[in-house]
Amino acid sequence: MQKSAVIYWLMDEAGPEGAGLISDSVDGRLSVEEWNRFRQMRFPKRRIEWLSGRLAAKKLIVTCVPDMENVPFAQITIANSAAGAPYARTADKILPIQLSISHREGLAAAAVSLNTGISQGIDLEWVEDHPVSFYEDFFTADEVRALGEYAAKQRAWVGSLMWSAKEAVLKALGQGLRMDTRAVEVLRIAESKGDGWGEIELRVANMENENWFGFWRNQGQHVLTLAVRGAKTRPEIKQSG
Ligand SMILES: CC(C)(COP(=O)(O)OP(=O)(O)OC[C@H]1O[C@@H](n2cnc3c(N)ncnc32)[C@H](O)[C@@H]1OP(=O)(O)O)[C@@H](O)C(=O)NCCC(=O)NCCS
Repeated sequence: MQKSAVIYWLMDEAGPEGAGLISDSVDGRLSVEEWNRFRQMRFPKRRIEWLSGRLAAKKLIVTCVPDMENVPFAQITIANSAAGAPYARTADKILPIQLSISHREGLAAAAVSLNTGISQGIDLEWVEDHPVSFYEDFFTADEVRALGEYAAKQRAWVGSLMWSAKEAVLKALGQGLRMDTRAVEVLRIAESKGDGWGEIELRVANMENENWFGFWRNQGQHVLTLAVRGAKTRPEIKQSG
């Protein structure tokens, strides 16, 4: 029997160190390339988010990627493809993993698949309501209709979860917001289980024959989603850190 795919994930709090208060190479936790990039970032919010995403990714990589356990953070670079998708490398090789990063309002999350045939996207959203025009622009007609059935407070949570799930799928595809968010439709949101994750049923336009698995969990005032593409059966989700 085929083993189920494993997605490793980690959640981390962003420290104040990205805000421009630091003067050295973040205690050696960034590679030279990252440090050069970090120094050029002018906006404190971006510095904090970028840094917290890198640190979360590195913490996850040293706990779940074989042979990375003793590699110092400064020897790992988290870079981005031309489309923005993150990947990890050491001095001599690109790690054969699929990595996803999200950062939002003081939290950062990272997810890793050791099987590069399985791609995933992780996304953190702050739970808040949006104007109806936002939903009409970015959600499908069926999603807008479904949202309309919720009272305002519940709509904030459901709408944030749906938006997050769309971004998670677009990350798993390596596309980001260059793709139409209405190409991803949330069909059903199931209750969370004992491990804190609930399932999300997804439809991705023109990819109806592909297996997609969606998951959500609450993290305080945030909602976290994970979209997994390419797994034959429900993937196992393992928390690190
Ligand atoms: C990625 C995106 C869907 C979600 O962003 P968001 O919810 O605002 O922010 P999140 O914190 O959840 O995610 C940001 C992370 O997504 C990742 N990401 C960006 N583009 C991605 C892509 N095409 N595929 C997969 N992951 C991507 C990055 O790791 C990024 O963090 P980093 O820049 O610090 O490495 C959206 O921001 C987007 O599409 N951005 C466009 C990126 C872009 O145009 N890049 C081109 C120049 S680099």
